[in-house]
Amino acid sequence: MDRESMSNEENYCFDVAGYLIVKGALVKGDIERLNAVLDQTGESTDLLALPAPARDPIRDLLVHPHLVWYLNQIVGHGFILDTQPELICDKTRIAGAALAGGNEPRHPGRAYYHQNDRRFSETVQAIWTLGDVKSGDGGLVAVPCSHKSFVETPEDLLTGADDMNVVHQFELEAGDLLLLAGSLLQGFRKWSGEEDLRLLSYQFVGRGVIQSPGDGPRTQEDTTRDLMANIRAEQRAALYLPGYQHTTPPPTLVTDGKTVKLVDSKEVFHPGIYIKDPNTTIDEKEFYFWDLCGHLVLRNVMDEDWLAEANEAIDKYEDRIEVGLELSRGSKALAGTGRPLLGGLLELPEPYSDPFRRMVAHPVIEHRLNWMGASGGRLGGLTAFCSVQGGSGHSLHDANEPLNPGRGYVFQNGRSYCEAITVTWQLRDVPLGLGGFACVPGSHKAQYRMPPGVSSCDDHMGLVTQPVLKAGDVVFFMDGAQTHGALAWKNPIPRRGVLIKYSSRNFNRSGGEMVHPENRWGDLVDGMSDAQLALMRGPDRDVFAKNVPRLEVKEGEIEVSYEKGAALYSKEAPSGPPSKE
Ligand SMILES: [Fe+2]
Repeated sequence: MDRESMSNEENYCFDVAGYLIVKGALVKGDIERLNAVLDQTGESTDLLALPAPARDPIRDLLVHPHLVWYLNQIVGHGFILDTQPELICDKTRIAGAALAGGNEPRHPGRAYYHQNDRRFSETVQAIWTLGDVKSGDGGLVAVPCSHKSFVETPEDLLTGADDMNVVHQFELEAGDLLLLAGSLLQGFRKWSGEEDLRLLSYQFVGRGVIQSPGDGPRTQEDTTRDLMANIRAEQRAALYLPGYQHTTPPPTLVTDGKTVKLVDSKEVFHPGIYIKDPNTTIDEKEFYFWDLCGHLVLRNVMDEDWLAEANEAIDKYEDRIEVGLELSRGSKALAGTGRPLLGGLLELPEPYSDPFRRMVAHPVIEHRLNWMGASGGRLGGLTAFCSVQGGSGHSLHDANEPLNPGRGYVFQNGRSYCEAITVTWQLRDVPLGLGGFACVPGSHKAQYRMPPGVSSCDDHMGLVTQPVLKAGDVVFFMDGAQTHGALAWKNPIPRRGVLIKYSSRNFNRSGGEMVHPENRWGDLVDGMSDAQLALMRGPDRDVFAKNVPRLEVKEGEIEVSYEKGAALYSKEAPSGPPSKE
């Protein structure tokens, strides 16, 4: 490899989605050699145990330069083989069996760790593609982003009763190397490709990870030593030596604070302090999807009559629609004409405001807002997005990196803390491929900067999703945490989406009268210096560094900077010293 490290695009993809496809990692000769071995031997497991020379190409892949280069960065130097390579096929997998993996409960030896630019995916499955896999062929499937899921996987998703639109079948070409995070939820669907499925899988783990025992004769040994003959079984269990067949998985000691008991089951025993509330009114599939993706779609919130009233009101005031900015920001894919907007929907004359006022404090919506970010959320106004065919998209924006707490997402102890949520009500259908809301699922947990190709959608790496919507559906998204925007509108029927931005109880995003020191404090601020007044302001728009007056120390002296950065700022932010003589 002629680079020192993975590109930001590659880091971002693995970090956000939990997988990376290295195109063309194998040359044609390698592919033919490996396929010939598999054809001749007919074996699909224990492939390192094949007799020479059949085993040679299988051994060569252990140290393939592409593999080593990537795993040094993803797993960490010193990574080791965990299990014998095997073919992923009908002989080794059961089509339609329950999905396996996921990050809740956490399995530290398989988990994904990231902090301050240090990353360890403690297990990675390296899958070499020896034959093409096309869309709809079936075979290997996974749930992207699930390596960072904090929420227990819903039963329906595990069993396949409901794929929740999150199960992804990889499209691969012969020669591709697919790297899968070990904590990614994955499964196997019925294979319907023309040729045999040829995915050759090697599982690697970090240098210290204890996961699978090897196959060697020494692993069969009983390591219980004589001197332990006179100690209790529980004591013997606590002294186990790792890495042998009989200690993998290790023994389980069940405790209650008074007794300790060795049980036959080797299931993990790991007490915690919380019990899931069976009486919660939260739909757990919704919670899982929200945490996994960073957005949520509710179906059929509006009925036909309500939709008709809302659309009629917009038709009636069509002449008030104003064409706003073109927002593709240099993207080829998103370029088009300016975005037509109709604001002031709550203030339309009666009865035309009625269908929009019903959207405010609606029980179905308000309940989601409460569990997503706690009570006390508030909205600004309602704006209808009325894009016409040829209208520009909106380049994708916002992300978890760089961090912006006032618009971020945190999951802790069963609660969602989302500080900025946008809700969009669909007044017309949004079919696939014709434009509209788009986002990067999982980007609310990104630790790498959004690549330019994702923002422009010109090189989106398959990470951008455009949800298919019906009139009456409502979309929630983590405005500020999740990377989102819109694809160019290609539908001859104009877009009709009503957008409502909610801010949490904890942060301001739009200025207001109380920003001014004299409104907040009265006479108390009379005669204060500019530096003092900068501290006496009320909560203002909180978007990165440069949008409020701030103190700086230069050569030991305090100065106030009013310099404004690129981010939007409230109209209350002064552009110069506000103190009065
Ligand atoms: Fe936005």
